[in-house]
Amino acid sequence: MTQVGENKTVLITGATDGLGKKVVLDLASQKARVILHGRSPQKGKTLAEEIRDTSGNPEISYYNADFSSLDEVRTLAGQIRADQKRLDVLINNAGIGPGPTGSARQKSRDGHELRFAVNYLATFLLTHRLLPLLRESAPSRIVNVASAGQQSIDFDDVMLENGYDGLRAYRQSKLAMILFTFDLAGDLKDTAITVNCLHPATLMPTNMVLETDYFSGSMDAVDQGAEAVQYLAASPELEGVTGVYFNGKMRAEPMAQAHDKQARQKLRQLSRELTRPDDAV
Ligand SMILES: NC(=O)c1ccc[n+]([C@@H]2O[C@H](COP(=O)([O-])OP(=O)(O)OC[C@H]3O[C@@H](n4cnc5c(N)ncnc54)[C@H](OP(=O)(O)O)[C@@H]3O)[C@@H](O)[C@H]2O)c1
Repeated sequence: MTQVGENKTVLITGATDGLGKKVVLDLASQKARVILHGRSPQKGKTLAEEIRDTSGNPEISYYNADFSSLDEVRTLAGQIRADQKRLDVLINNAGIGPGPTGSARQKSRDGHELRFAVNYLATFLLTHRLLPLLRESAPSRIVNVASAGQQSIDFDDVMLENGYDGLRAYRQSKLAMILFTFDLAGDLKDTAITVNCLHPATLMPTNMVLETDYFSGSMDAVDQGAEAVQYLAASPELEGVTGVYFNGKMRAEPMAQAHDKQARQKLRQLSRELTRPDDAV
């Protein structure tokens, strides 16, 4: 298994269940400094305490933020920058799945389509707000958890106001993560911060998969996805590698829109307008 190593500080969003929780358990046993993020204070604090007790690693902290609110994301970034001296790895993992078939469109607290907001816009904002800390800690890495389930973004209806479908919403948000990864890698090319993304594994039996009836078929173990995430987070083989989409631990090709510079520019502009990452507070 890839070892992140002692003294490395790693933040993982959506750490309270499924894939994120498994990664956190592995990192805690490797004596890394682990910062968990979740949206449920009780669940997060209890988990952090349990992990401190079972791993014997005292360097486990928990921060709360509901990613359906950009204000909460902004506050989270501020708290982390105030409390933490360094950040070696940022793992953007939090997300919601497609939900049951036929589910109605939902909106975030900011009025954006919920899956686009939680799975993508929150990550866009958090990452930008944490770049100063990642820069001070470089060489550092950003790992974006995307998916092999992808759908081109229709820039005439990004918020899916017409003909909403949960699977389309999920897949669009996951392709947005890949466009963002490639775009950010370009911005960071002269720095020692790398940014890559991955499809961790297929149909791992986590809450988001178990609660939907969109999928059927054989499932990969959560361990397999967790190993792939840690490979991107820490493998020496990936030193200096940036702007790559992986399927598990293998380099892979995402949908063509990820390579469309105009589409990436449109997404960047829209995301900046919606999240205002450079605002003072
Ligand atoms: N499972 C798969 O087969 C699969 C395949 C490809 C990609 N992925 C990706 O893997 C990542 C992890 O998903 P998972 O499979 O581990 O699903 P999961 O078990 O449902 O975990 C999702 C995590 O995100 C958190 N979260 C959900 N909504 C949030 C919100 N509004 N604000 C903040 N945090 C929120 C959840 O918090 P709670 O604990 O409070 O629910 C949980 O910690 C996702 O990005 C997903 O798209 C999964």
